[in-house]
Amino acid sequence: MNPGSRRYHIITFGCQMNKADSERMAGVLEDMGFVWTETPDQAQLVLYNTCTIRDNAEQKVYSYLGRQAKRKQTEPDLTLVVAGCVAQQEGDALLRRVPELDLVLGPQHANRLQDLLEQVAAGQQIVATEQIQIVEDITKPRRDSQVTAWVNVIYGCNERCTYCVVPNVRGVEQSRSPEVIREEMVRLGEQGYKEITLLGQNIDAYGRDLPGVTAGGRYEHTLTDLLYFVHDVPGIERIRFATSHPRYFTERLIHACAELPKVCEHFHIPFQSGDDELLKAMARGYTQAKYRRIIDKIRDRMPDASITADAIVGFPGETEAQFAQTLKLVEDIEFDQLNTAAYSPRPGTPAASWDNQLSETVKADRLQRLNHLANQGAAARSQRYAHRIEEILVEDQNPKDPTQVMGRTRGNRLTFFASDIHHLRGQTIPVKITEVRPFSLTGEPLDAKKGLNW
Ligand code: SAH
Ligand code: SF4
Ligand code: F3S
Repeated sequence: MNPGSRRYHIITFGCQMNKADSERMAGVLEDMGFVWTETPDQAQLVLYNTCTIRDNAEQKVYSYLGRQAKRKQTEPDLTLVVAGCVAQQEGDALLRRVPELDLVLGPQHANRLQDLLEQVAAGQQIVATEQIQIVEDITKPRRDSQVTAWVNVIYGCNERCTYCVVPNVRGVEQSRSPEVIREEMVRLGEQGYKEITLLGQNIDAYGRDLPGVTAGGRYEHTLTDLLYFVHDVPGIERIRFATSHPRYFTERLIHACAELPKVCEHFHIPFQSGDDELLKAMARGYTQAKYRRIIDKIRDRMPDASITADAIVGFPGETEAQFAQTLKLVEDIEFDQLNTAAYSPRPGTPAASWDNQLSETVKADRLQRLNHLANQGAAARSQRYAHRIEEILVEDQNPKDPTQVMGRTRGNRLTFFASDIHHLRGQTIPVKITEVRPFSLTGEPLDAKKGLNW
């Protein structure tokens, strides 16, 4: 293919994993000579990186695709690509539904984009969804931020939660070696990145597919070991990781987070339900008591830690009393943020075929009640920041107010303060918090020189 100065546009749905894949695919396209455009209608290559976690996520893709497919009638050179989890799930069926597509590629094939596009240029319509050993990443991602970056540590998921499509679309667990992860972080440090989020759908599973067991009988390469291994990478000031699974969350990990200064006190540990019967039906492999113990232990060691989670309401068979257990857990724990969702039956998952599905009305009602409670919790948790001095790593200008910059506390609360982004991007600044909202804060930089009148 000779792209010349062809323009591309990527639209990304779904989780951080997809965002990281999009950045890598953008890097591949730029290496091939493509140039980013903000306007999809002006692009000669449009790539949809899709999500299928819930039905509404999937439907979004079809409505977007319809419009671009029409463009192809008048612009035959337009290249249309569907990547991500809908691509993996639907495969060939996508081509039948939208015959204008040129390329359908599953998440495991993101690094092969150039190769696949070259086959498209040779006149083929390609579907790349077979399970493969993921090629080690030699792409240079076009990262959206200049301060924070994602680093994949484990792909796929070997769990079998009965509601979830992820194992079907992301394949089996494949950990990257500690050395290549460190190498990627070293390069990011050299480029001026300050914060790294290590990514995996079940990050606690990191390393179990790598060779090596210690004399004590545990895996040699756990997430905890990885944190120690990468902790001293020069230039990197903050390290986060997501997503944690309660079943595998260890005390060693809590200890490491408390001990390692760069590891931020922020834990994203989905619980899904506060009821043991439902947790069993979901095949989550822990009880609500175990979940509470984990949170207690974290707060014992790090009283200020921020705790975020995901929960599902309206799972098949959920009674009002069982839902009340979820409410109780949320009330007791007071999450810093809770992502909630009404259960959505997904093709190829066990729970979708059960005959005890709840009505949309019941799900919507429970979702609303849970959201209300979760927002109260978040507002209460936010109060602890009032009048405090927080270290804010400045990421960008506030898109809604150019006189302000925005960054995050170690606990991941978005924080705004008046200053000039050109001086402060990538710096960590002590900020006195003056205004507290449920999910964000406003403050004043302590060093007046670093404020407005620099
Ligand atoms: N690996 C993570 C979550 C991955 S999916 C974990 O184990 O927790 C992100 C979130 O989407 C899940 O935590 C769950 O709350 C939600 N989710 C997944 N499948 C869903 C479904 N079928 N219906 C509604 N929500 C779902
Ligand atoms: Fe899905 Fe469960 Fe794997 Fe999370 S751990 S991605 S919810 S199967
Ligand atoms: Fe969606 Fe795939 Fe992530 S289904 S949530 S984009 S792993």
